[in-house]
Amino acid sequence: METKIRNRFILGGLVLLFMVYNIFLYTKPISASPVQYLSDNALKGETLWQENNCIACHQFYGLGGYLGPDLTNIISNPKKGADYAKAFFNSGIKSMPKFNFSEKEKKLLASFLKEVDQTGFYPNRDVEFENSGWVTIKYK
Ligand code: HEC
Repeated sequence: METKIRNRFILGGLVLLFMVYNIFLYTKPISASPVQYLSDNALKGETLWQENNCIACHQFYGLGGYLGPDLTNIISNPKKGADYAKAFFNSGIKSMPKFNFSEKEKKLLASFLKEVDQTGFYPNRDVEFENSGWVTIKYK
């Protein structure tokens, strides 16, 4: 009999704790300003990126459409960079549509690509072929 009463107290305590915790959790005001990871310009660039559906043909970190190349590191690529990228935006080269971005919009897109670039490398490794036939993997 004694243990039954004790168990009820424990159960009651747990239910009470659960209730208090839930009240605390669900009545806490949500932070009004969520963390902003991109600069204002890059955010506007991202909007252009989304409105024009660039991801239908391009990828970030290998994810996206596969008609055009991956653009994760196009800005930091020593053979490419911002001016190189900008030259493509309105070019209508191959199957890429001929867009009609203003200079300002090109800049915004480039700053979006730049800030995406700063998040990491894709692919994050290089392979080196040795004379022996082995490959060494070098992580960035
Ligand atoms: C219908 C498919 C398609 C869409 C949509 C598209 N692209 Fe492209 N894009 C391509 C293709 C294909 C190439 C490769 C052209 C070449 O190498 O000659 C390319 C090349 C590029 C390049 C040069 C990449 C490199 O490494 O040489 C950039 C930068 C680029 N696109 C940006 C964009 C942006 C920004 C958008 C959206 C505003 C966009 N593309 C939308 C198909 C597309």
